[in-house]
Amino acid sequence: MTSPHAIDAHAASSSALATGIATATAERTPVPTTVLMCSPRYFDVLYAINPWMDPTVPTDTALAVEQWNELRNTYTDLGIVVHEIDPVEGLPDMVYAANGATVVDSIAYTASFRFPERQPEGDAYAAWLRDHGFRVVEATAVNEGEGDFLVVGDVILAGTGFRSTLASHRELAEVFNREVVTLVLARPEYYHLDTALAVLDARPGHEQIAYLPSAFSPDARAELERRYPNAIIVDEDEAAMLGLNIVSNGRDVIMPARAERFAEALRERGFNPVGVNLSELLKGGGGVKCCTLALRFSENEGD
Ligand code: ARG
Repeated sequence: MTSPHAIDAHAASSSALATGIATATAERTPVPTTVLMCSPRYFDVLYAINPWMDPTVPTDTALAVEQWNELRNTYTDLGIVVHEIDPVEGLPDMVYAANGATVVDSIAYTASFRFPERQPEGDAYAAWLRDHGFRVVEATAVNEGEGDFLVVGDVILAGTGFRSTLASHRELAEVFNREVVTLVLARPEYYHLDTALAVLDARPGHEQIAYLPSAFSPDARAELERRYPNAIIVDEDEAAMLGLNIVSNGRDVIMPARAERFAEALRERGFNPVGVNLSELLKGGGGVKCCTLALRFSENEGD
């Protein structure tokens, strides 16, 4: 159930509705954002490691590339800086760049994939990050990067249950010297944290998230309710479009165009939802956020 009116934004949302979108978006601050993406040139569904993947359903790689280009162009039009890593033939899931590492303060904590089919991706991403000036810290624990690790304010929310291990949560806390909040995922369709929870505003003191409660264990739900009482709750239908698998710069929220109720809830909070269609990449179980790795620099560095 989406409940945009129940929360603190009531006054702000009515004035935003009265004065129009331009005023509403002006209330939000876009944070300079740099990301890494990987073309789906070799995308295919050849194995099934999540419930979305069915190797008997044909994929259209040319269409995947076209939709991915639209996503990349949407980012650049919004002022988001996009870097690209060369795709590797034989790694059909490499397009899901979010899984390639976790990058905070110019430090890259490498991915160590759960399934052998994806393991070589970890080295490919680590090499790119090393070549581009990041300090690379090799993981010893199984983890799938930003698929499961989301930075919000001063903490990192960390998913487990299907892919990333608890040991990786401890390693993550050490590497980045930040509080890591473990969240146990409960449903196989929402096997990565970024399929069930969206970070809309990551600035400390302004944290805003959205999530699907049924994707979490009871303890994780209680933790999310306690930490984020003003979160947007996304409904089952729109979560099943991977509606929560979004990228936000704190103002513009790049998301599946079909998730209209979520978009409306975002508008009421002063965000600017920007819809895209990644139907082909959904066949691999990924959406907007999955295709996008955030490159976070330490404060005194540019890109
Ligand atoms: N087929 C990929 C897998 O199962 C999809 C990864 C999606 N990425 C994400 N960040 N949720 O690993």
